[in-house]
Parts: sequence; structure tokens; C-alpha cells
Amino acid sequence: MKKSYEQLIESLKAQGFKFTFAEFDEIGNYLPEDSDWNYKDVTHLNHVHTKVHSVLATALDDMTTCINLQNISLLGVKIPLSMVNYEFDKFNQIYFTSSGPFVIIGNTLSELHGKDQTKVITKFAIGSKGFVSIFHPLIKFVLSKNHKKLMEEDTPMRVRRGLLRKNGHSFYIPKETYPFYFSEEISRSNIFLKKNR
Ligand SMILES: [Fe+2]
Repeated sequence: MKKSYEQLIESLKAQGFKFTFAEFDEIGNYLPEDSDWNYKDVTHLNHVHTKVHSVLATALDDMTTCINLQNISLLGVKIPLSMVNYEFDKFNQIYFTSSGPFVIIGNTLSELHGKDQTKVITKFAIGSKGFVSIFHPLIKFVLSKNHKKLMEEDTPMRVRRGLLRKNGHSFYIPKETYPFYFSEEISRSNIFLKKNR
């Protein structure tokens, strides 16, 4: 059983939760496979990202769990966030975390845009019960800033793969969609030149 992004939100609404939503769209010169891989690549987290340190618990086929030590510069604190990330469908990942009375649910979709570009749609739902929902705008602001920083750091990895594809390369995927655990097998030749190139 896998709940969709909308089903998760509905289940919490039934428990009296109220939500504030945010959406971010990016269009880039890479394929949906590349952004999907980027979100599943557990190894880059502590090398590429500067505002978060990830303590990995599991990297499985279609799911990963970790404890993210997230730097919130605005508040000058580092908070631990238990994070669950699962593939709901092809190029459709769902992740969630909570802290105190707040829950944050995310959903990232990668879709082909034109011939060789990709549109990445990231949706966030910030939820809580009662008066603490007055803090939703602040959380949304912090989330937006964090998302912008993450994209600055992640996009070059995706664009690099897009450039290599244009240059006759392809990337090995052991299944129909990239498994989280496979990103740890960095000693393999996961990139190759297409035939006759
Ligand atoms: Fe990343």
C-alpha cells in the first residue's frame, strides 16, 4: 500500500489538520531520469548540500529514511528531522517530516518538457492543528529559502548529466526507475558511451 500526496493530506485533514501549500517549478536541460536520480542519490547529500547533514538509516529499492540535521540560518539553529522518502509512481516521489506540532509533506514530479527538457514540480503542504497554524507563513518562508538553496546545489548535477547525454553518453538504470540503494554503488561503471560513439 502506498498513499498518494493528496491521500496523506486528506487523512490528516480528517484528524483536524489545516494546511498551507507551496509550489515551486523548475525547467532544465536534462531528462526526468536525471532529476529522479538526483532525488534518489543518497551519496551526494553530505558532499553537495551545505545546509543539511543527512544521517542515513535505510536506502532501499523505492524508499529511503534518514535523520536530516537541518541548519535554519534565520533562527540560528540546527534541528533534527526524521525524513521518509518513497517513490509513489514513476518520477513521482513523496517525502514527509514533522517537528513539534508541525508536519511537512512534499511531492516532487519530473515530467518531460518539450523534447529534451524537464519540468520539475515540487509541492509542499505544511500542516498543524489549532492556533499554531499562525506559524505556517514563517515555515513557508524558511522552506522557500531552503528549496532555492537546494536547487542551486542540485541543478548542476542534473545539467551535467544532460550535457553528457547530448555528448553521446547514457546512464545505467538496473530497473524501470532508479532504486535508492543503487546510488551507493559508485564503484560501478554507471555511465557509458552509446554504441558506435
Ligand atoms: Fe540534492
